[in-house]
Amino acid sequence: MRRRPAWQRRPTGCSRPDAPDRPGERLRPARTPFSEVVAALRAAGCVFAEDEARLLVDAARTPADLAAMVERRAAGLPLEHVVGWAEFCGLRIAVDPGVFVPRRRTEFLARQAAALVPADGVAVDLCCGSGAVGAVLAATADGADVHAADIDPAAVACARRNLDPARVHEGDLFAALPSALRGRVDVLVANVPYVPTEEVALLPAEARDHEPRIALDGGPDGLDVARRVIAEAPSWLAPGGHLLFETSERQLPDALRAAAARGLRPRAAVDDDLAAAVVIAASRPGRG
Ligand SMILES: C[S@@+](CC[C@H](N)C(=O)[O-])C[C@H]1O[C@@H](n2cnc3c(N)ncnc32)[C@H](O)[C@@H]1O
Repeated sequence: MRRRPAWQRRPTGCSRPDAPDRPGERLRPARTPFSEVVAALRAAGCVFAEDEARLLVDAARTPADLAAMVERRAAGLPLEHVVGWAEFCGLRIAVDPGVFVPRRRTEFLARQAAALVPADGVAVDLCCGSGAVGAVLAATADGADVHAADIDPAAVACARRNLDPARVHEGDLFAALPSALRGRVDVLVANVPYVPTEEVALLPAEARDHEPRIALDGGPDGLDVARRVIAEAPSWLAPGGHLLFETSERQLPDALRAAAARGLRPRAAVDDDLAAAVVIAASRPGRG
C-alpha cells in the first residue's frame, strides 16, 4: 500500500476535477482525460489515485509532460520526485530525484525545533536532505542564522534550492560546518537516518528504490548516526541550546540514555497522530 502523499492537505485549487477554469483542467489533454490518469495510477497500485492525478495534471505543462509523469509515477517513482516538490509545514520544498522525501511526521520535529530558535539565534539543520527542516526554521525565526549540511552532494544541491545556498555545507556531520559556529548553535536539529539495517529491506519500495541508502540506514539498532551527533553536539551547542532528533518510539529509551550520558538533559516529545517521536536535549546553561 502506498504512503499517503505528503501534500494531501495542500490548500490548492486542485480538488474539483470538473472545474473548467482551473489551470490543471486547461492543461488536461484530450487524449489523456483525467479519468484515464486516475485509471492508470489506480492500476499501478496508487491508493490515492484521484488526489495524485490532480497534482500531476496541475504540474504538467504539456500533454506529453503529463503522459511522462504518469508513466514515471506508475513505475513507482515517489510522487514528490515526479512533480519535484513536497509540501512541508505549509512550505513548498523542492525535492530532486534521489533526495530523501520529507515525511509528514517530521513536521513535528521541525515545529518543536522552530519553537526553540531565538529570533536572532543560530540554527543548524544537520543531515538536511532537501533542507525542509531548515526551511521551516528560516521561515519561522525571523533574523535567525540558519545553516544546513549533508554528506550527499545531491541533497546539498537540492537544499541549496530551498535555503540560502551559502549556508548549505557538504560533508560528514559536523565536519561540514564552519568552525565559527562551534559553541554558538542555539538549535541543532538532525533528522538522521534511523532505520535499523535489517529493516531497510522492509521499507516500501518507494523508499528502498528511490531514496539513497545513506538517508535510511542507521546501523544495527538504527542509532549509529544519532549517537555520533549526540557525542559532538555539546561542543557545538550554545549554553542552554538544544539538540533535537527524530527516532522511532521503540528507540526512544536508548536515545534518551545516550543523550544523558553525554551531559545533555533530554526529554521525549511524541505526536501520536503523526506517529512521531522526538528527542529534545538541552545543553547545560553556562556550558557548551
Ligand atoms: C532521513 S534523511 C533526512 C533528510 C531531511 N532532514 C528530512 O527530514 O527530510 C537523512 C539525511 O542524512 C544524510 N546523512 C546520512 N549520513 C550523514 C552523515 N554522516 N553526515 C551528513 N549527512 C548524512 C543523508 O544524506 C540524508 O539526506
